Amino acid sequence: MRKKVSIIGAGNVGATTAHWLAAKQLADIVLLDIVEGVPQGKGLDLLQSGPIEGFDSYVVGTNDYADTANSDIIVVTSGAPRKPGMSREDLIKINTDITRQCVQNAVPGSPNAILILVNNPLDAMSYVAFKASGFPRNRVLGMAGVLDTARYRTFLAREAGVSVEDVQAMLLGGHGDEMVPLPRFTTVSGMPITQFIDADKLEAIVNRARKGGGEIVALLKTGSAYYAPAAAVAQMIEAILLDKKRVLPCAAYLEGEYGLSDLYFGVPIVLGAGGMEKIIELPLSEDEQALVQKSADAVSSTIDIIKNMGS
Ligand code: LAC
Repeated sequence: MRKKVSIIGAGNVGATTAHWLAAKQLADIVLLDIVEGVPQGKGLDLLQSGPIEGFDSYVVGTNDYADTANSDIIVVTSGAPRKPGMSREDLIKINTDITRQCVQNAVPGSPNAILILVNNPLDAMSYVAFKASGFPRNRVLGMAGVLDTARYRTFLAREAGVSVEDVQAMLLGGHGDEMVPLPRFTTVSGMPITQFIDADKLEAIVNRARKGGGEIVALLKTGSAYYAPAAAVAQMIEAILLDKKRVLPCAAYLEGEYGLSDLYFGVPIVLGAGGMEKIIELPLSEDEQALVQKSADAVSSTIDIIKNMGS
């Protein structure tokens, strides 16, 4: 029997995630949205590309959480964009309510699922889902590091004139401008990146990667990135469903790792059938630790807003 992945939110990120998953034949897919007709239409359209692309994954759109029952993985992409006159706190409140509702609606029918959060603010929404689900931390993850390192690896590969496949990179921190790409743990097929790119260029690339989401938002003017975010979700799903034990940066709930507790934060993990099977703790230099702390402070201030809101 094929695995089942439910995607909550049939906007650009949700629908494109379904597209990548179907193309990879990883699972049957349920696309759920509150808007009537849109998930059904997108689901049917995608299903009808199967004979051309050669996939047998079943894709269905719905407005009914009953159709998500017995999912192996649930992806939450729903969230409101910031509108004129709305403060960051207003947006956090709206998206906290949306995330909590999605999780509370989806979890009873799929008590053994792994949750992947994709909506923003990413680390805080992962925290909300963790608390709302009652799941152990290994089954609630946020997608950010795979996307952020993909951006970083894209720029590095272009600059070095080598294949993107040969650039490996690690990154720590929250999904925001304070994220911490780690040049010391960046290689081209195992060789230090500094062998290929000089220090100034490397610093410029680190800075561009950190602001990578904003760069796309500024270009699109309405909405944010979705091809690469969706591909990143699909890679996490592949790691879980095929029990690949990939080592990827993901947002995970920390209980003392990196000196941090009670927050979601991007760290290297082993991702397999059990979800987050292990957190890898890298020995950091003083400078790196200071950057990690700055990023953690930014994430904590958002999570504190949620904690103060109560439920
Ligand atoms: C990004 C935003 C949407 O990184 O989180 O593209």
